[in-house]
Amino acid sequence: MALITSPESILDIALAAMQSTENQRLKTLISSLTEHLHEFVLENQLTESEFERALQFIVGIGQATGKNTNEVVLVADILGISSLVSTINNMDVDGGSYAALLGPFWRKNAPLCNWGESISRVDLGGQPMEVHGLILDEFKKPIASAIVDVWHSSPSGFYENQDRLQADMNLRGRFKTNENGEFFFRTIRPAGYPVPTNGPCGELLRAQKRHPNRPAHIHFMISKPGYKVLITQVFDSSDENLESDPVFGVSRQLVGEYLTDDKTGICKLNHSFVLQAGEMVFPAPPIP
Ligand code: BEZ
Ligand code: FE
Repeated sequence: MALITSPESILDIALAAMQSTENQRLKTLISSLTEHLHEFVLENQLTESEFERALQFIVGIGQATGKNTNEVVLVADILGISSLVSTINNMDVDGGSYAALLGPFWRKNAPLCNWGESISRVDLGGQPMEVHGLILDEFKKPIASAIVDVWHSSPSGFYENQDRLQADMNLRGRFKTNENGEFFFRTIRPAGYPVPTNGPCGELLRAQKRHPNRPAHIHFMISKPGYKVLITQVFDSSDENLESDPVFGVSRQLVGEYLTDDKTGICKLNHSFVLQAGEMVFPAPPIP
């Protein structure tokens, strides 16, 4: 093995040491990551104290991750990496994406609900809301018997697992599409909310003078055997933070019309979703 002769010489020595990696995809990814990191250090002439600070940050991310919080996911989100991975893997014909981040709040096994049922399981006040949806395939044909798993924050901006005032599984539910590919549920209008700011990610956002507030949205995870699981969010068109989402999750296709009916005062959302053919693979739940 060669010996170091300059800062630049270290990369080739490191890459040579990785040559025997049997898993070819792992070899490609780690070699490429190593190349980019070396380039980054050289380009910025990283100092030893900056390096130490960066390592402390990564340790802090791990230490802040536990049963109810996932700071590892959050750092990928606030750097735009989660959105990038989601977009390149779910691109539509226009180069946009129907998919959006899973986020840290999805829970498996939300209650199975009937047509029109409300997922508001405790009285929190707020504006009543009705959501109608349509699930289509890529040829615009309706998909019957798809499972639509929904979850969202309360009118105060908290998910059920963050809030002692809410019942277990409040504002979460799973609905099945009818023979026309439609689903319908009742709920209360969600509010925007800050991403967690009590860990290293919050510190980074403050240093960057970025606000932590996500625009109001409803999460959807739509599945049916024979189709890729669609994980997405539909944002409230009236929210002032659509263009400054701290996790870069908003695309044009994902802005929904949250319209208030003047007569009833009910907020109504109508949205269509397109599933792509493929294997139905669910993500690992970020929280139990
Ligand atoms: C969410 O939409 O639930 C979310 C996404 C990224 C970070 C925090 C929350
Ligand atoms: Fe959310």
